[in-house]
Amino acid sequence: MPAKERFLSLSGRKILISAGPTREHLDPVRFISNPSSGRMGYALARSCRDRGALVTLVSGPVELAPPRGIHMVPVISAREMLAACRKAFSEADVFIACAAVSDFRPARTARQKRKKDGNEEWLLLKPNPDILFTLSRNKGKRVLVGFAAETQDLVRNAQAKLARKRLDMIVANSVSGGRGFGAKSNQAQLLLPGRPPEELPLMSKEKLAAIIVAKVARLSAERGRGGI
Ligand code: CTP
Repeated sequence: MPAKERFLSLSGRKILISAGPTREHLDPVRFISNPSSGRMGYALARSCRDRGALVTLVSGPVELAPPRGIHMVPVISAREMLAACRKAFSEADVFIACAAVSDFRPARTARQKRKKDGNEEWLLLKPNPDILFTLSRNKGKRVLVGFAAETQDLVRNAQAKLARKRLDMIVANSVSGGRGFGAKSNQAQLLLPGRPPEELPLMSKEKLAAIIVAKVARLSAERGRGGI
């Protein structure tokens, strides 16, 4: 990482991070979700904290211990995650959207466990809100960072998300064949508007988090204070 990024402080910066999966319940005992472990988002939260930032971590259900010195907001569903992120976003200087949000939810959630009744073709899905896209419409001076999990056309698809969600940086990684999700390491490309993609080698999520946060520190220093 360039020397000028290595020691840049995030002191006093308010950073919102979304992490982990969301769960969309069909009934009290069944849900739609994905294998996100939350490791990347938690590593980002620790790395931002270590640079002096005031971190709010909005997390879906994961098996990780809450990091010390970080304001944790646990959520279950995408709609809960949107509400929690919306609240913290209003104060934030930076939003890093790392959560693997379920794009769909059941059209109805049964209050009691659904019984087998011979009619098994019943599941109707509705789209969930896109949290990052929704909040990006009030971007202000905030630095926005997204992730793109793709199984094909990695750079092209990630670039489209970078533009559509008004991001300052997107971390693109391939999840074909289940790679990436839930793993301890990650092989990513960093895309910034108008720059060629920067391909990083396979590395631990801790190390990748440090590289991402160094870039966030530079972007944030360039942008100046205040998201509002
Ligand atoms: N994201 C979000 N809310 C959603 C879906 C995605 O905030 N409902 C955020 C993710 O946290 C990530 C970025 O948007 O930072 C891209 O997520 P990804 O799942 O790769 O893409 P989608 O926008 O959902 O597009 P698609 O499923 O068509 O690839």
